[in-house]
Amino acid sequence: MAIAKRQFDAVVVGAGGSGLRAALHLAEANLKVAVLSKVFPTRSHTVAAQGGVAAALGNSEEDNWHWHMYDTVKGSDYLGDQDAIEFMCRKANEAVYELEHFGMPFDRTPDGKIYQRPFGGHMQDYGKKPVPRACAAADRTGHAMLHTLYQRNVRARTQFFVEWMALDLIRDQSGDVLGVVAMEMETGEVMIFQARATLLATGGAGRIFASSTNAFINTGDGLGMVARAGLPLQDMEFFQFHPTGVYGAGILITEGVRGEGGYLLNKNGERFMERYAPNAKDLASRDVVSRSMVTEIKEGRGVGKDADHVLLKLDHLGAEVINRRLPGIREISIKFANVDPIKEPIPVVPTAHYMMGGIPANYHGQVVALGGNGFVAVVRGLYAAGECACVSVHGANRLGCNSLLDLLVFGRAAAQQIIDDLKRDPYPKPLPAGAADRPLARLARLETQKDGESVAEVAAAMRRVMQAYCGVFRFGDLLKQGVAKIKEVAERSGHTMISDKSKVFNTARVEALELDNLIEVAMATMISAEARTESRGAHARDDYPNRDDENWLKHTLYFKNGYRLHYKPVTLRPLTVEPFQPKARVY
Ligand code: FUM
Repeated sequence: MAIAKRQFDAVVVGAGGSGLRAALHLAEANLKVAVLSKVFPTRSHTVAAQGGVAAALGNSEEDNWHWHMYDTVKGSDYLGDQDAIEFMCRKANEAVYELEHFGMPFDRTPDGKIYQRPFGGHMQDYGKKPVPRACAAADRTGHAMLHTLYQRNVRARTQFFVEWMALDLIRDQSGDVLGVVAMEMETGEVMIFQARATLLATGGAGRIFASSTNAFINTGDGLGMVARAGLPLQDMEFFQFHPTGVYGAGILITEGVRGEGGYLLNKNGERFMERYAPNAKDLASRDVVSRSMVTEIKEGRGVGKDADHVLLKLDHLGAEVINRRLPGIREISIKFANVDPIKEPIPVVPTAHYMMGGIPANYHGQVVALGGNGFVAVVRGLYAAGECACVSVHGANRLGCNSLLDLLVFGRAAAQQIIDDLKRDPYPKPLPAGAADRPLARLARLETQKDGESVAEVAAAMRRVMQAYCGVFRFGDLLKQGVAKIKEVAERSGHTMISDKSKVFNTARVEALELDNLIEVAMATMISAEARTESRGAHARDDYPNRDDENWLKHTLYFKNGYRLHYKPVTLRPLTVEPFQPKARVY
């Protein structure tokens, strides 16, 4: 079957913050760049980021990049690579000022500087007290950022392919990546996007869990493509649960609420975080706060008829602050929790939010894999940035607002690496025969499968398994059972059926293709979690409650084939400064 083909210098898959930041840099370098997105770019999930972007601008209190680096290393529970963390924290101010000059409508201090608020785990003077480091546009920072970057891309003449879903990578015999096969979602037309550089910027996969702050589009598409191409996924056991999702709805309530002075209460009206984190209190890092909330609930101090959530109090901030700094939160609370936070606390519960693991990449955005000799090697032609990538700056636990920073810094860095690589390597390689065979076979199965379960049933089963067996606290026996159960679900996902009726708008086909990706992520997460017999950051095991640096200060690499796990060392050496040595992590 003949398939249409288009050629580009670079194809960027995903139009969230990292995809748009990268595309802008590429287009401004006069490269021919295509951006593929399942949704209109300004509806990408970055739009949902609320509280801010981290940078040690020091606009209202003293701050510097080295304190930021320390907090990020500590927040990562020492699993973050210190070279990449130094790179990110050093670049932070420049990245934010660049965005300001692009026209980003940040809130302002009375003297006209960018407004900053405190956020969990961001501290002054190596952990002494919280510092305002989150540069904010009210509680709609991601929204403002995405619109700013989209408009700059339009000006730079980036070519957008909207409602196109990338299906699989194209690799040749030597393993080089030569582009992607993609499908137009409305028509089902399949096309080859041949490119000298392919950048995956497909975001997270929070939809593997039943309760998630993530948009429905967050289905781990880049990770699925990478796993099917025989490449590893890194540190997938580390999934962040944000402390404050709206109870029953999962919608994010920004940590910025606590940054502005809000705090959590149990059923006795007690500000319980004072017991768990005497110094940082409600602004301890997310893994610590989420575990404290779940402990309160488990010990019978939860709120509500099922005693299964806690309360976030902010009425004491007053209507003026809430309306000016947190208008979106007020709207969300009224709509999804039926409470006006000016008068009443918001019911909240920890909710799956962010994937610290992902496609292994270095801080230049190059995807890396294990070479035949066991050493790390760059995959030519393939780059990754943003949440889908594991650089790894977040290690075992990400600090709030470091995600928007990561998008900006590594989106631009990956684009710069592409520009440099394409100068050295100016000719496209020929496509291999049968470049589109694998995705076409996946589509053909969906067309011909005449009986089987619906995609929605299997997806719901996957979410239930992940939520029940791989949550905030993990248990050895449950993880073992979880591995067996998720393998069963994966087997079922190979036999799903889409009815003719549901093919009308092609959404059923898209959901089936997305499920293939979600399953890859869920498998990698459960299997990697079962194998890691320690507690570190967001991976908290009841049977191994302590961090074990002697045996586990290393990154997990999961391979789909044979569910193999390999491990590689954490980079403890920064670029120019002294390393931060692992020590007990207290807030
Ligand atoms: O709480 C928030 O506003 C989320 C920010 C983040 O995940 O970085």
